[in-house]
Amino acid sequence: MPAPFRSALDAVQPYVPGRPIEVVKRELGIEGEVIKLASNEGPFPPVPAALEAIARAASESNRYPDGSCHELRHALAARHGVGPDQIVVGNGADAVLDYLAQALYEPGDEVAYCWPSFPVYPINATKMGAVCVAAPLAGSSYDLEALAAVITPETKAVYVTNPNNPTGGMVTRDALLRFLDGLPATVLPVIDEAYFEFIDDPDYPDSSAWVSEGRRLVAIRTFSKIYGMAGLRVGYGVMPADVAVACGKVKGAFDVSQLAQVAALASLDPSVAPEIARRRAVVALGRAQLVNGLRAQGLGPWPAVANFVFVPVGDGLGLAQALERRGVIVRATAGFGDPTAIRITVGTPEENARFLSTLAEIRG
Ligand SMILES: Cc1ncc(COP(=O)(O)O)c(C=O)c1O
Repeated sequence: MPAPFRSALDAVQPYVPGRPIEVVKRELGIEGEVIKLASNEGPFPPVPAALEAIARAASESNRYPDGSCHELRHALAARHGVGPDQIVVGNGADAVLDYLAQALYEPGDEVAYCWPSFPVYPINATKMGAVCVAAPLAGSSYDLEALAAVITPETKAVYVTNPNNPTGGMVTRDALLRFLDGLPATVLPVIDEAYFEFIDDPDYPDSSAWVSEGRRLVAIRTFSKIYGMAGLRVGYGVMPADVAVACGKVKGAFDVSQLAQVAALASLDPSVAPEIARRRAVVALGRAQLVNGLRAQGLGPWPAVANFVFVPVGDGLGLAQALERRGVIVRATAGFGDPTAIRITVGTPEENARFLSTLAEIRG
């Protein structure tokens, strides 16, 4: 009997997430403390206002969430200077990327991005039967000229991951604007800014501002990173209203839990801004600690601007496994397209130091 599944799924390589601490402890029989620097969440919990909002809303969990995310969409619209009909909230930015793929891709459409990059783009495109077209990176960031060169009349969407995950580098406002100006109107640019709040480089672009000026693109953001809410699952896209309408046709009715919605809303309060700035500064110090420590061990970490550092090591998987056996979980980047490196998420100063000393121990 033929398999009952869509043939497009034959080519899908499922996403391999960073392993949770409890799983690693159980599987490897580790008694002591295990630290996780593998999934770019970072060490920060939800802000106190978010935790209070969750506590207040928890007893109402017998009710379905607001499927329209009304209050959160309005708050995000005000923040980004767009209409509430231009905000799509999802169960993580991942869900918004999935809505876009479902809404846009017909079998045979081309989808362009640089590679190594975030594997969710090829997974989403492939499962819809679209054709993935990858351009190289320029060092640790997207090579926008190479990316422009792979655009064809069949290209439906182009992703720009800024900064790129897993390599950590950013493209500048001028370069991105030049790239966008050169795109045919038939291509929808999706600018993935999952790490936006970590970056203080004055040349780093806020592509949501271009949406508010009427440009046709999607800016992707998340509460998983600096807001410390990866486990709650809430992200969003800022986009033209017709793209949001199409996303609304493919999304689930109650995709975003009420606890996630109230926590995200509370995190947007202006009183939270100083804490976000503090986290940005802490991460910048931790990033420098990792970069300097890696250099001191003779390694060459790539230029990075967010809360993670990419470093070529030869056998990425072998080193990640050796670190894991010693209670330090980092990410081998094979699933992101580069088997020769690891990616380390910035942790607390103590966690960063433990990673560096464990690495030195392994490398003798
Ligand atoms: C570039 C990029 N986009 C999107 C996401 C997904 O974020 P979320 O947790 O909101 O689904 C991630 C998470 O690691 C990411 O690195």
